[in-house]
Amino acid sequence: MTAKAAEKKDVRRKDLIEATISAIAHNGFARTTLADVAAAAGLSRGIVNFYFESKDDLFLETLRYLAEEYAGLIRAAVDAAGSDPAARVVAFIDADLNPRVWNLDRIAAWVAFLAESKSHPDYREICRRYDVASAEELSNQIELLILRSGRPSSDGVVIARCLSAMQQGFWYDLLFYGESYDHAFVRGALVDYLARVMPESFDSYRRAPAQRPTLSVYTAGGADDALPRELPLTALPGDPLPEPPATGSTLAGGVKTLPAWTYKNDEFYQLETEHIFDTHWQVVCHLNDVKKAGDYATLDLATRRVAVIRDKAGDVRAFHNVCRHRAARLCPGKHGNHRFNIVCPYHGWSYNFDGTLRAMSEGHTFPEIDTDKFGLWEIDTEIWNGFVFVRLKNDDGPSVEQIMAPYAEELAPYRFAEMEPIGPIWTGPVVNTDWKNTMDNYLEGYHINPGHPGLFRMFGNSYVTEANEHGTGRAFSVLKDEPSSVWAEGLYMKLLPSFDHLPEERQRAWVYYSLFPNMAFDVYPDQVTVFHVMPIAPGKSQVVGGAYALPDARREVKACRWLSNRINHQVWLEDNELTDLVQEGLQSGPYTTGYFSEKEVCLARFHQNIRARLPVATLDRVPHEGNVADVNAQLSRRLAEAAE
Ligand code: FES
Ligand SMILES: [Fe+2]
Repeated sequence: MTAKAAEKKDVRRKDLIEATISAIAHNGFARTTLADVAAAAGLSRGIVNFYFESKDDLFLETLRYLAEEYAGLIRAAVDAAGSDPAARVVAFIDADLNPRVWNLDRIAAWVAFLAESKSHPDYREICRRYDVASAEELSNQIELLILRSGRPSSDGVVIARCLSAMQQGFWYDLLFYGESYDHAFVRGALVDYLARVMPESFDSYRRAPAQRPTLSVYTAGGADDALPRELPLTALPGDPLPEPPATGSTLAGGVKTLPAWTYKNDEFYQLETEHIFDTHWQVVCHLNDVKKAGDYATLDLATRRVAVIRDKAGDVRAFHNVCRHRAARLCPGKHGNHRFNIVCPYHGWSYNFDGTLRAMSEGHTFPEIDTDKFGLWEIDTEIWNGFVFVRLKNDDGPSVEQIMAPYAEELAPYRFAEMEPIGPIWTGPVVNTDWKNTMDNYLEGYHINPGHPGLFRMFGNSYVTEANEHGTGRAFSVLKDEPSSVWAEGLYMKLLPSFDHLPEERQRAWVYYSLFPNMAFDVYPDQVTVFHVMPIAPGKSQVVGGAYALPDARREVKACRWLSNRINHQVWLEDNELTDLVQEGLQSGPYTTGYFSEKEVCLARFHQNIRARLPVATLDRVPHEGNVADVNAQLSRRLAEAAE
């Protein structure tokens, strides 16, 4: 086997092992089949059998991989900490909490193997070997410290065992309480324990206890089931509850809008980038936007730069659109094609379409670089119904398929995967409107009557919005029977033909599906548009989108697509005016927060979702400059504690 083939084999085996971890974590040990693994890896069942002889073989390799990954991480961290035993113990704690291993999938899979190990001697042996090795590392260092302090060495054994038990307890906590379980709190608790029993060695590693900030508290009903457990931001002990709103809203307790300061604040914007945009799926293009090898589409999201590219094997991959030499952008514009390989415009380094580094111009002038490790940084992708999604940081959140599951059945007849782009990916102008302001406007139909007379003429009061789990929302409206008296609107309503692939109730429906945080599919009978609100800077955004449709040569269909674009362009202009008014008002001083109507349920949920991830947004007034991230971390910790 050539070196390249061997490498490919390793990559495939690793992909399958990762898929096994995910499948065991989500389905449980007994219900995980090779078919699940193949599906999770996006491969055929036959491929799994090609790389692993049997399910037993695959599972055994998966357990070895988990154990070695964990041991390797600990070993590297402890070695890097130097010779001081206390530093080595703290490095051990930090490595144990490394998100690479301290995450729901891995812990769920490890615990599943542990449970099986009773009846499976191979598993028992692997689990035991690695448990013993890590326990020994801890107890050796702690005993050393105990000896230095002149205390009996038996103290060291007890302390090391207790520390191990605490670590494992926190692993189980993560399993039960999910992704929101506060990492900083766990680290603080473990070091605090050590500092209490061995102050002479660990006091200096303790961090100052979090100051309790003043909170503005409200109750937020109707929380998203899939959100972190701190989401129902219920009253904390000792905090006064605000007066409920006088409207009698069924949004339990009255959900308040996000405070005005969050719509233009550098520090909050930074938190949004890290905790919202990096961790949520973003659509970049459709597979049919990148049909040939070298075709690419890009996504510029806040400060992040992403490119999706079709490689020579036909796979679609995503990378940071950043050169490894001195960081120049590699793929210009919204989309394009690299003919033979990706060539950096700055100094001419080139990369293969699979991201590997192909050549460094004048390579002999560089120090020795391991070119195999100097490819482009790859990003997670998921293909959902033909659309290519990327996620910059995997925090074990749901897949796009899981997020969109409630709508899978009703969207199936549209056949998104078969659609073709009916125009290039377009970008609107950069506007002085925060991305949240634009999304706020999109997520409610309460403004349609006064704000969009054209839509009101076409749809009347049929606009119904509903919020769903994982931050999705749907707005449904049906064309009136009586055509509008305005030319473009009336003509669209008259010309719209029937579509054989759609059920009766969708023949004349405009349905909008929004995905947290910043995108939506606008689903019309004649086409689908993808709508994406790009954060550009605090208080600035830009809409990016694309239109897709099944091939349909009927003249009336072409006319309807043109008319629908014209109508929606008018709607977009009206929305821009409205969101301008709002942005001005948010920055004008007296306004802090408002209350939502029942007709703004998707929007209320959107704000809850943001507060759940960034609880600093519960504060009506902005914290002192430079403190926003700290206050946010403190509030996250405090909410986690209060929820226990
Ligand atoms: S920055 Fe890309 S080659 Fe120099
Ligand atoms: Fe609108």
